[in-house]
Amino acid sequence: MTRFPDGFVWGSATAAYQIEGAAGEDGRTPSIWDVFAHTPGRTRHGDHGDLACDHYHRLDADLDLMAALGLQAYRFSVSWSRVKPEPVGATNAAGLDFYDRVLDGALARGIQPVVTLYHWDLPQWLQDKGGWANRDVAEHFADFTGAVLSRLGDRVPRWITLNEPYCFTFIGHLEGRHAPGLQNEATALATVHNGLLAHGQALARIRELAPHALAGITLNLSDPLPASDSEADRAAAARVDLVENRMFLSPLLRGEYPPDAAEFYAGVTDFDFVRPGDLELISAPIDFLGINFYEQHRITAHPGQQPPAGSIVRGTRKLRAEPPVTAGNVGVRPDGLYNVLTRVHREWTDRPLWITENGLALNDYTGPDGRCHDPERIDYFARHFEAAARAIADGVPLEAYLVWSLMDNFEWADGYSKRFGIVYVDYPTQARIPKSSARWLRRVIAANAVVPDDTLG
Ligand code: FCB
Repeated sequence: MTRFPDGFVWGSATAAYQIEGAAGEDGRTPSIWDVFAHTPGRTRHGDHGDLACDHYHRLDADLDLMAALGLQAYRFSVSWSRVKPEPVGATNAAGLDFYDRVLDGALARGIQPVVTLYHWDLPQWLQDKGGWANRDVAEHFADFTGAVLSRLGDRVPRWITLNEPYCFTFIGHLEGRHAPGLQNEATALATVHNGLLAHGQALARIRELAPHALAGITLNLSDPLPASDSEADRAAAARVDLVENRMFLSPLLRGEYPPDAAEFYAGVTDFDFVRPGDLELISAPIDFLGINFYEQHRITAHPGQQPPAGSIVRGTRKLRAEPPVTAGNVGVRPDGLYNVLTRVHREWTDRPLWITENGLALNDYTGPDGRCHDPERIDYFARHFEAAARAIADGVPLEAYLVWSLMDNFEWADGYSKRFGIVYVDYPTQARIPKSSARWLRRVIAANAVVPDDTLG
């Protein structure tokens, strides 16, 4: 049985727009995801987050559930448009009341809160001013951060500024699959810089208002492997690595855009959005790095490939994953997690690492016994936990593992069709039904070790 170090933290993660619902309540105004999801053709079946898991009204029961599952940490995000619903005017105290209750409720149950300030739900009023493409967004994000800190800063031990800037910049502004649904590469690159700048400014605000708290950022890091040993495939994998990983790791941890970025983006941007002082702010030291791991890919050269069609990385193609795959056709590759963890520690930072998300979608359903059995999720987690333990044994300072997600929820462009939870949500009744994986995870947490799956016996 593989054991984890004493003090290792186990938990789960969610995000505001994916679970809360109560879209129009207590002063909240629309975010870019409300607008995007309500635009015909943007999400599967036209699904949106108006009600989602109705977590806003079921908070206490959901916190009780987390406690019953033995979770030690809970990562959630704050909806910016609940806190700052209007372009001008005061902070919306009613919006912050909710997060006050989440925080106190978690703490009262002995669950350590981890608060993400931005998980993709930009207020629409800010989008109307250019959104992430407008440099002023960084100042607005710092203001919002200040408002949240003034109310919650005394009790939050750990802050995450941004969740997965790769997704809300490149998927939102180049691929167009996520809000705000744009397809412009130059704009996407400006949003990368403005996003990182927003992180830098928010971090400075956290240092000022909560000097005792720990602060970091969460990146989704991938493991792009060349499909063959050929020069061309290796160069293609390096380009995917540039776009998916190094465009974020390098400015944050080395204070510079990757050396190959200027050449790769020649003709798209000359990076003239970078002003003196920006990179110093962006690379101010963080206390930990959050890593979300989902994907390892085999990459092949594909001359002629131009974004956004197909791959957003010029001249590359991702091979179809070999089995086993998830319901999202993503390959199950625990060694990808091992590679990411060891590489980040070896090449990028000696700070502590937190896995702030990892998980898979399955076509879960409840059987005649009313239960939801998900042995593949247990197998997936067991393999990934083993990979994490291996990285720890090899010297990686990994401190925590938060699974995605606590419960099935609104999976962005895939709507409710993709179930990532360890708890099944029966949307028509909003019943929460812990899956077999939740019962297994409770045993893992209690033992602080990867225990065998006994849920089928
Ligand atoms: C991540 C997101 C999270 C969820 C999972 C499946 O990219 O951060 O909100 O959608 O993927």
